Amino acid sequence: MVNNAEEIYQKIAEKYDFLNHFFSVYIDVLWRKKLLRLILPEEGDRVLDVCTGTGDIAIEIKAKANSKVVGLDISEEMLKVARKKLQERRLDIPLIIGDALKMPVKNSTFDVVTIGFGLRNLPDYDKGLDEMARVLKNGGRIFILEFAPPRKNILGFLYWIYLRYIMPFIGGIIAGVKEDYKELAVSIKNFLTPEDMEKLLRRHGFRNVKSSMLSFGIAYIYTGELTRDGK
Ligand SMILES: C[S@@+](CC[C@H](N)C(=O)[O-])C[C@H]1O[C@@H](n2cnc3c(N)ncnc32)[C@H](O)[C@@H]1O
Repeated sequence: MVNNAEEIYQKIAEKYDFLNHFFSVYIDVLWRKKLLRLILPEEGDRVLDVCTGTGDIAIEIKAKANSKVVGLDISEEMLKVARKKLQERRLDIPLIIGDALKMPVKNSTFDVVTIGFGLRNLPDYDKGLDEMARVLKNGGRIFILEFAPPRKNILGFLYWIYLRYIMPFIGGIIAGVKEDYKELAVSIKNFLTPEDMEKLLRRHGFRNVKSSMLSFGIAYIYTGELTRDGK
């Protein structure tokens, strides 16, 4: 989890997209495109993007597929940036302000739920996944794009140095967000391994759970299909 996630994103909202692209050298854009290729939404599918932030995943889906996409986030400032992007692109994506742990959404509403770099921010992963399962229709699909802890090898060590020391240093100089990037590094280090993520999804009623590795294991896309027995 990230301490004070809501506070952090309220503060960095205006700089969020720039910092993301800068630190990932635009690889984050490729990850979201890969996510869309895995989802392959069908016409008329109802898609909820949880922790939508500045809306990039929701926008990617809406721009390429004829789906009904909705975004949800706890931070009004992040949603403000998303709204501006939607106006510029003339896309119709309803944005809901709300907590992923208690979503103002009816049961069994969506065919697809996505969450990108959001699960790690939640104070309770179990509660978050229960909520996402609740709003999914039976047979609905979940797609989680998330960082994985650095591996215990030389590449993982170099990645940790980049995360823990280089990013906070540069983030501090160009945007005054040194402490926030230190927090980000710790949240990634302490996050679940791909094996534990797969187990977690199965425990919450998802079947056909799969994980796709991105960029040597820096991030993964986890997918699963909700199976409510007897319903
Ligand atoms: C790292 S950003 C990810 C944004 C976007 N999904 C992306 O791919 O760039 C994490 C987002 O999670 C949101 N968030 C954190 N805690 C939340 C909660 N409890 N409920 C809903 N959104 C939350 C933050 O406001 C922030 O916009």
